[in-house]
Amino acid sequence: MLVLGIETSCDETGVALFDTARGLLAHALHSQVGLHAEFGGVVPELASRDHVRKTLPLMRAVLQEADVNSKEINGVAYTSGPGLVGALLVGATIGRSLAWAWGVPAVGVHHMEGHLLAPMLEPSAPRFPFIALLVSGGHSMLVQVDGVGRYRILGDTLDDAAGEAFDKTAKLLGLAYPGGPALAKLAGEGDPGRFRFPRPMTDRPGLDFSFSGLKTFALTTCQAGGNDRQTRADIARAFEDAVVETLLIKCRRAVQQTGIATLVVAGGVGANRALRDGLRVMAADVGAEVFYPRLEFCTDNGAMIAYAGACRLAAGQQQGLEVAVNPRWSLEQLTPV
Ligand code: KG4
Ligand code: ZN
Repeated sequence: MLVLGIETSCDETGVALFDTARGLLAHALHSQVGLHAEFGGVVPELASRDHVRKTLPLMRAVLQEADVNSKEINGVAYTSGPGLVGALLVGATIGRSLAWAWGVPAVGVHHMEGHLLAPMLEPSAPRFPFIALLVSGGHSMLVQVDGVGRYRILGDTLDDAAGEAFDKTAKLLGLAYPGGPALAKLAGEGDPGRFRFPRPMTDRPGLDFSFSGLKTFALTTCQAGGNDRQTRADIARAFEDAVVETLLIKCRRAVQQTGIATLVVAGGVGANRALRDGLRVMAADVGAEVFYPRLEFCTDNGAMIAYAGACRLAAGQQQGLEVAVNPRWSLEQLTPV
């Protein structure tokens, strides 16, 4: 079954072709980072308009790259939530309309399901059940994954997501949007011993996260410690160390609590080098195995949507003819496959 996947939930337009027999045939991505940079964050209306401009040209590019005719496509998958409502509506309208024109089924995909199934696109894919650490600009979650559509949220963020905390702290340190990768780079020059930030919510049981206090901690440290480059690097280092260690503590706890020794890391913050290094050490210590999507599939992309959609379409699931999106949507509400 050949499935076209479309991702437009936030500031990246992603399109891909996934075949259940042959695997991923082609994928293309357009990032809107340049478009939103001057505003210091995503401007929803600009995001929607750019998805309108980019989705069809990207689709033509993947069809050409895979040497596929649109008549060969057996189904269309698009992100229908969670995300920015206008941005979601663009992908849903285009995806639903193409499916109708081609006379094939369409399915709306949960963006986070896409992220947590992304490692399945790799040659050494994890096996169910596994624990997924989802750390993106909008989410910080630990999810028990028993199968496609069988998700139990073990821990969630009470305020800022990990990526959001990276971006806000980066902004405060004068780094350009999206600041996560820039902050991580600056942290590389920082002295790990100069400042120590708290590890939020690690001193009590449970797997929930809270990262908004770290940004305040960074602000007060900044105000007290000065604004020279070395101080900013030291703050970046202390911040990154705190986020990474907090995530490691909760991942270790999730593995021990569930007895599931397979860990999957997905979402943009999963690209963070310090987190990856820390997880390797922690996993070796508890006898767990860690799986990642390739770096370009850690962040938003069409391939993960095509894959998740293909799992559902191949099982006979599909949407009606309406264009429906779900900007707020829990992973636990999904139908098992
Ligand atoms: O998954 P994603 O592309 O989009 C969402 O669905 O949110 O994640 C983007 C987030 C941003 O907050 C970005 O700053 C963060 O992931 N990020 C990083 C790194 N690369 C991306 N944060 C820390 N270190 C990185 N290397
Ligand atoms: Zn995402």
